[in-house]
Amino acid sequence: MARARASEQQERIDQPAARRIRQALAQAPQQLGQQKPLGRLANRILDRGLNTAGDSDQPENAVPGRTRYVPSAWHVLPRALHYLGVSERDTFVDFGCGKGRVVHQAARRPFRRVVGVEISPALAEIARAGLAARRHQHRCRNVEIVVADLKDFRVPDDLTIGYLFDPVSGEAFSAVLQRIVDSIDRNPRRVRLIYVRPTLGSQVLATGRFRLVKEQRGGLRDARIYRAAIFESL
Ligand SMILES: C[S@@+](CC[C@H](N)C(=O)[O-])C[C@H]1O[C@@H](n2cnc3c(N)ncnc32)[C@H](O)[C@@H]1O
Repeated sequence: MARARASEQQERIDQPAARRIRQALAQAPQQLGQQKPLGRLANRILDRGLNTAGDSDQPENAVPGRTRYVPSAWHVLPRALHYLGVSERDTFVDFGCGKGRVVHQAARRPFRRVVGVEISPALAEIARAGLAARRHQHRCRNVEIVVADLKDFRVPDDLTIGYLFDPVSGEAFSAVLQRIVDSIDRNPRRVRLIYVRPTLGSQVLATGRFRLVKEQRGGLRDARIYRAAIFESL
Protein backbone atom coordinates (compact mmCIF):
# COMPACT_ATOMS: atom_id res chain seq x y z
CA MET A 1 0.00 0.00 0.00
CA ALA A 2 2.77 2.41 1.04
CA ARG A 3 4.81 1.35 -2.00
CA ALA A 4 1.84 2.05 -4.30
CA ARG A 5 1.41 5.53 -2.83
CA ALA A 6 5.11 6.27 -3.22
CA SER A 7 5.08 5.24 -6.84
CA GLU A 8 1.97 7.35 -7.46
CA GLN A 9 3.70 10.36 -5.94
CA GLN A 10 6.83 9.71 -7.96
CA GLU A 11 4.71 9.62 -11.11
CA ARG A 12 3.15 12.95 -10.19
CA ILE A 13 6.60 14.49 -9.64
CA ASP A 14 7.94 13.02 -12.90
CA GLN A 15 5.07 14.08 -15.07
CA PRO A 16 5.96 17.78 -15.43
CA ALA A 17 9.61 16.88 -15.96
CA ALA A 18 8.69 14.33 -18.60
CA ARG A 19 6.45 16.88 -20.27
CA ARG A 20 9.26 19.43 -20.28
CA ILE A 21 11.65 16.89 -21.80
CA ARG A 22 9.10 15.91 -24.43
CA GLN A 23 8.50 19.57 -25.31
CA ALA A 24 12.22 20.28 -25.48
CA LEU A 25 12.76 17.30 -27.77
CA ALA A 26 9.90 18.36 -30.00
CA GLN A 27 11.33 21.87 -30.34
CA ALA A 28 14.96 20.80 -30.75
CA PRO A 29 15.02 20.24 -34.51
CA GLN A 30 13.29 23.58 -35.08
CA GLN A 31 15.73 25.44 -32.87
CA LEU A 32 18.70 23.68 -34.43
CA GLY A 33 17.40 24.65 -37.85
CA GLN A 34 17.13 28.28 -36.83
CA GLN A 35 20.54 28.39 -35.26
CA LYS A 36 22.47 26.71 -38.11
CA PRO A 37 25.79 27.13 -36.30
CA LEU A 38 27.86 26.53 -39.45
CA GLY A 39 25.91 29.14 -41.37
CA ARG A 40 26.37 31.62 -38.52
CA LEU A 41 30.09 30.98 -38.44
CA ALA A 42 30.36 31.39 -42.22
CA ASN A 43 28.46 34.67 -42.01
CA ARG A 44 30.72 35.96 -39.27
CA ILE A 45 33.81 35.25 -41.34
CA LEU A 46 32.62 35.86 -44.91
CA ASP A 47 29.98 38.55 -44.54
CA ARG A 48 32.10 41.23 -42.89
CA GLY A 49 31.49 44.53 -44.66
CA LEU A 50 29.04 42.92 -47.06
CA ASN A 51 26.00 42.49 -44.82
CA THR A 52 24.19 39.99 -47.01
CA ALA A 53 22.94 37.73 -44.21
CA GLY A 54 19.34 37.66 -43.07
CA ASP A 55 16.17 37.11 -45.08
CA SER A 56 14.25 40.25 -45.99
CA ASP A 57 10.76 41.14 -47.13
CA GLN A 58 10.57 44.40 -49.07
CA PRO A 59 7.37 46.15 -50.25
CA GLU A 60 8.34 45.34 -53.87
CA ASN A 61 8.24 41.62 -53.05
CA ALA A 62 4.57 41.73 -52.09
CA VAL A 63 3.43 41.00 -55.64
CA PRO A 64 2.41 37.50 -56.78
CA GLY A 65 5.23 35.81 -58.63
CA ARG A 66 8.00 37.70 -56.82
CA THR A 67 9.96 36.08 -54.04
CA ARG A 68 11.55 37.72 -51.04
CA TYR A 69 15.25 37.95 -50.31
CA VAL A 70 16.92 34.82 -49.02
CA PRO A 71 20.68 34.70 -49.57
CA SER A 72 22.33 31.77 -51.32
CA ALA A 73 24.46 29.63 -49.03
CA TRP A 74 28.13 30.54 -49.43
CA HIS A 75 29.13 27.29 -51.12
CA VAL A 76 26.57 27.27 -53.94
CA LEU A 77 28.11 29.64 -56.50
CA PRO A 78 31.78 28.58 -55.98
CA ARG A 79 30.75 24.94 -56.48
CA ALA A 80 28.84 25.70 -59.67
CA LEU A 81 31.61 27.91 -61.09
CA HIS A 82 34.18 25.25 -60.26
CA TYR A 83 32.19 22.92 -62.51
CA LEU A 84 31.66 25.51 -65.28
CA GLY A 85 34.99 27.30 -65.28
CA VAL A 86 35.23 31.07 -65.76
CA SER A 87 37.20 33.01 -68.35
CA GLU A 88 37.77 36.67 -69.07
CA ARG A 89 35.30 36.37 -71.95
CA ASP A 90 32.42 35.55 -69.56
CA THR A 91 29.70 37.88 -68.36
CA PHE A 92 27.75 36.92 -65.27
CA VAL A 93 24.24 38.07 -64.34
CA ASP A 94 22.51 37.36 -61.02
CA PHE A 95 18.78 37.60 -61.76
CA GLY A 96 17.35 38.95 -58.49
CA CYS A 97 20.60 39.72 -56.66
CA GLY A 98 19.18 40.97 -53.36
CA LYS A 99 21.94 42.20 -51.03
CA GLY A 100 24.61 41.13 -53.50
CA ARG A 101 26.31 38.11 -51.94
CA VAL A 102 26.51 36.18 -55.21
CA VAL A 103 27.51 39.29 -57.18
CA HIS A 104 30.42 39.77 -54.78
CA GLN A 105 31.45 36.12 -55.08
CA ALA A 106 31.32 36.34 -58.89
CA ALA A 107 33.28 39.61 -58.89
CA ARG A 108 36.15 37.84 -57.16
CA ARG A 109 36.61 35.75 -60.30
CA PRO A 110 38.03 36.82 -63.64
CA PHE A 111 34.70 37.71 -65.28
CA ARG A 112 34.74 40.40 -67.93
CA ARG A 113 31.56 41.84 -66.45
CA VAL A 114 29.29 41.07 -63.48
CA VAL A 115 25.73 42.40 -63.21
CA GLY A 116 23.17 42.08 -60.42
CA VAL A 117 19.53 42.89 -61.14
CA GLU A 118 17.21 43.63 -58.24
CA ILE A 119 13.63 44.90 -57.90
CA SER A 120 14.10 46.45 -54.46
CA PRO A 121 16.00 49.76 -54.40
CA ALA A 122 16.74 49.25 -50.68
CA LEU A 123 18.35 45.84 -51.26
CA ALA A 124 20.21 47.18 -54.29
CA GLU A 125 21.65 49.94 -52.09
CA ILE A 126 22.87 47.38 -49.55
CA ALA A 127 24.44 45.43 -52.43
CA ARG A 128 26.23 48.51 -53.77
CA ALA A 129 27.56 49.46 -50.32
CA GLY A 130 28.82 45.92 -49.68
CA LEU A 131 30.47 45.68 -53.08
CA ALA A 132 32.22 49.02 -52.53
CA ALA A 133 33.46 47.85 -49.12
CA ARG A 134 34.93 44.65 -50.58
CA ARG A 135 36.08 46.06 -53.93
CA HIS A 136 39.73 45.41 -53.06
CA GLN A 137 38.93 41.67 -53.35
CA HIS A 138 37.43 41.89 -56.83
CA ARG A 139 39.29 40.70 -59.90
CA CYS A 140 36.47 41.91 -62.12
CA ARG A 141 36.51 45.69 -62.51
CA ASN A 142 33.16 45.99 -64.24
CA VAL A 143 30.55 45.27 -61.57
CA GLU A 144 27.11 46.82 -61.63
CA ILE A 145 23.83 46.65 -59.73
CA VAL A 146 20.74 47.51 -61.76
CA VAL A 147 17.35 48.24 -60.19
CA ALA A 148 14.77 46.68 -62.52
CA ASP A 149 11.88 44.26 -62.72
CA LEU A 150 13.25 41.08 -64.27
CA LYS A 151 10.31 40.75 -66.57
CA ASP A 152 11.24 44.08 -68.22
CA PHE A 153 15.00 43.65 -67.98
CA ARG A 154 16.72 43.42 -71.37
CA VAL A 155 19.20 40.60 -70.95
CA PRO A 156 22.64 41.78 -72.06
CA ASP A 157 23.84 40.20 -75.29
CA ASP A 158 27.16 39.25 -73.73
CA LEU A 159 25.62 37.20 -70.87
CA THR A 160 27.29 33.79 -70.73
CA ILE A 161 26.55 32.62 -67.17
CA GLY A 162 23.23 33.42 -65.54
CA TYR A 163 22.37 32.75 -61.89
CA LEU A 164 18.80 32.30 -60.73
CA PHE A 165 18.00 31.51 -57.13
CA ASP A 166 14.27 31.34 -57.16
CA PRO A 167 13.72 35.01 -58.04
CA VAL A 168 10.30 34.84 -59.70
CA SER A 169 7.65 32.28 -60.51
CA GLY A 170 4.72 31.83 -62.90
CA GLU A 171 4.47 34.14 -65.90
CA ALA A 172 7.35 36.27 -64.68
CA PHE A 173 9.67 33.25 -64.88
CA SER A 174 8.53 32.50 -68.45
CA ALA A 175 9.17 36.16 -69.32
CA VAL A 176 12.72 35.98 -67.94
CA LEU A 177 13.41 32.80 -69.92
CA GLN A 178 12.03 34.41 -73.08
CA ARG A 179 14.28 37.43 -72.56
CA ILE A 180 17.31 35.15 -72.20
CA VAL A 181 16.34 33.28 -75.40
CA ASP A 182 15.80 36.62 -77.23
CA SER A 183 19.28 37.69 -76.22
CA ILE A 184 20.76 34.43 -77.57
CA ASP A 185 18.88 34.98 -80.83
CA ARG A 186 20.27 38.50 -81.13
CA ASN A 187 23.79 37.27 -80.49
CA PRO A 188 24.12 33.47 -80.84
CA ARG A 189 26.50 32.09 -78.19
CA ARG A 190 26.72 29.49 -75.46
CA VAL A 191 24.83 30.48 -72.30
CA ARG A 192 24.88 28.47 -69.10
CA LEU A 193 22.27 28.93 -66.37
CA ILE A 194 22.84 28.05 -62.72
CA TYR A 195 19.33 27.54 -61.41
CA VAL A 196 19.21 27.11 -57.63
CA ARG A 197 16.12 25.45 -56.14
CA PRO A 198 15.02 24.58 -59.67
CA THR A 199 11.34 24.02 -59.05
CA LEU A 200 10.58 25.34 -62.54
CA GLY A 201 13.37 23.45 -64.28
CA SER A 202 10.85 21.87 -66.64
CA GLN A 203 10.03 25.35 -67.97
CA VAL A 204 13.69 25.86 -68.85
CA LEU A 205 13.67 22.60 -70.82
CA ALA A 206 10.30 23.46 -72.36
CA THR A 207 11.86 26.45 -74.14
CA GLY A 208 13.57 23.80 -76.29
CA ARG A 209 16.73 25.92 -76.11
CA PHE A 210 18.52 24.41 -73.12
CA ARG A 211 19.65 21.01 -71.95
CA LEU A 212 20.38 19.94 -68.39
CA VAL A 213 24.10 19.29 -67.97
CA LYS A 214 24.52 18.88 -64.22
CA GLU A 215 22.60 18.59 -60.99
CA GLN A 216 24.31 19.59 -57.77
CA ARG A 217 22.85 18.51 -54.46
CA GLY A 218 22.24 20.75 -51.48
CA GLY A 219 23.89 20.09 -48.13
CA LEU A 220 22.39 17.65 -45.62
CA ARG A 221 20.35 20.37 -43.94
CA ASP A 222 19.57 22.41 -47.05
CA ALA A 223 19.09 19.62 -49.56
CA ARG A 224 15.91 21.09 -50.98
CA ILE A 225 16.80 24.77 -50.97
CA TYR A 226 20.32 24.69 -52.32
CA ARG A 227 19.95 22.02 -55.00
CA ALA A 228 21.20 23.50 -58.25
CA ALA A 229 20.54 22.54 -61.83
CA ILE A 230 22.93 23.70 -64.52
CA PHE A 231 21.59 24.19 -68.03
CA GLU A 232 23.43 24.89 -71.23
CA SER A 233 22.02 26.46 -74.37
CA LEU A 234 21.72 24.19 -77.40
C1 LIG B 1 15.83 34.18 -53.23
S1 LIG B 1 16.49 35.81 -53.38
C2 LIG B 1 18.09 35.45 -54.11
C3 LIG B 1 19.12 36.51 -53.85
C4 LIG B 1 20.49 36.29 -54.49
N1 LIG B 1 20.37 35.95 -55.89
C5 LIG B 1 21.26 35.19 -53.80
O1 LIG B 1 21.27 34.08 -54.35
O2 LIG B 1 21.82 35.42 -52.73
C6 LIG B 1 15.50 36.42 -54.75
C7 LIG B 1 15.72 37.90 -55.04
O3 LIG B 1 14.98 38.24 -56.21
C8 LIG B 1 14.43 39.53 -56.03
N2 LIG B 1 13.26 39.66 -56.93
C9 LIG B 1 12.02 39.14 -56.76
N3 LIG B 1 11.23 39.47 -57.79
C10 LIG B 1 11.99 40.22 -58.64
C11 LIG B 1 11.73 40.85 -59.90
N4 LIG B 1 10.53 40.77 -60.48
N5 LIG B 1 12.72 41.54 -60.49
C12 LIG B 1 13.95 41.63 -59.90
N6 LIG B 1 14.26 41.05 -58.71
C13 LIG B 1 13.29 40.34 -58.10
C14 LIG B 1 14.05 39.57 -54.54
O4 LIG B 1 13.89 40.91 -54.09
C15 LIG B 1 15.24 38.83 -53.94
O5 LIG B 1 16.25 39.73 -53.59
